[in-house]
Amino acid sequence: MIRVDLASDTKTRPTPAMRRAMAEAEVGDEQAFEDPTVDALCARTAELLGHEAAVFLPSGTMANQIAFRLLTRPGDEVLVEATTHPLHFESGGPAANAYCMFRPLTGERGKFTADQVTDAVRGGFRHHPRTSVVAIENTTNLGGGAVWTVDEVAAVAAAARAEGVKVHMDGARLANAAVATGVPLAAYGRLCDTVWLDFSKGLGAPVGACLAGSKDAVHEAWRIKQQLGGAMRQAGIIAAAALHALDHHLDRLADDHARAARLAAAVAAIDGLALVNPPVETNLVFFSTEGSGWSAPALSEALAARGVRIGAMGPHHLRACTHLDVDDAGIETAIAALRAAVGG
Ligand SMILES: Cc1ncc(COP(=O)(O)O)c(C=O)c1O
Repeated sequence: MIRVDLASDTKTRPTPAMRRAMAEAEVGDEQAFEDPTVDALCARTAELLGHEAAVFLPSGTMANQIAFRLLTRPGDEVLVEATTHPLHFESGGPAANAYCMFRPLTGERGKFTADQVTDAVRGGFRHHPRTSVVAIENTTNLGGGAVWTVDEVAAVAAAARAEGVKVHMDGARLANAAVATGVPLAAYGRLCDTVWLDFSKGLGAPVGACLAGSKDAVHEAWRIKQQLGGAMRQAGIIAAAALHALDHHLDRLADDHARAARLAAAVAAIDGLALVNPPVETNLVFFSTEGSGWSAPALSEALAARGVRIGAMGPHHLRACTHLDVDDAGIETAIAALRAAVGG
């Protein structure tokens, strides 16, 4: 039986208090703007992200799709870092839904620089695709949970704007970035044309994300949400969970970061294991088994047999995510399982 699940920060279950908030939520038909809880969540998230408006969506994946639809025309090019989520894990959605192309930039830890943006933006030559968006993932997922600082985002955004290119931010773990840097979410959000915040990752809600932008952008986002089948009905029941998460689960992300740092230090001390993309800044710990003789899938299975789930991300890489449902004791259990399996 799995006792400590570090496979993803999506593994959290609603707490009893969150379930109560859901049960007691005032609801209505959200697509007719009759759900006060959804409306409150959108207003709150828009303000948090420093924008005029926001729209509640079933997932961050849909937020990305809608943003690319909003910001590109068919055939346009989006600059992304080579490891970014929508390039690898959204089923080709940007191509299927927005008819845009992705141009991967090779960065470090999932981040790229303003100079890379300036170099990559196409001129107006008719044979080239038009570069219309730069998409930033903050924190980076495959980049190891690295945080973009506000200055880094500002530099990239300035380089993009100088070329007439829009800025989108994937905020699957933006709350982690804000807590790690101590900077308000809006400091990041204001630098972007569109930005979204996921409630179903570190914040611990079961469903949902809000995409924020100008009133006009959100008005148009609603049309695309409708087209994609994302318009809901009594969605206040899930928006209540997200509001509860904003009230109670934001600051505690610092605990997840401290636990990830503890796990990372222990992993680094085990002979044969090595951290990938260090340092660990937030809640993701990637490590390699290359020096241990273990393959990642085999180690993942051996850990599962000891009640600990850490997912294999390739032949030799594993990823552990800390979250609301893993406490200090859980981290010590995971460390003991790793030591017992690998030795050291
Ligand atoms: C960086 C990043 N972007 C987008 C997503 C998609 O979010 P959702 O699971 O809410 O669709 C994820 C999910 O893991 C992610 O890690």
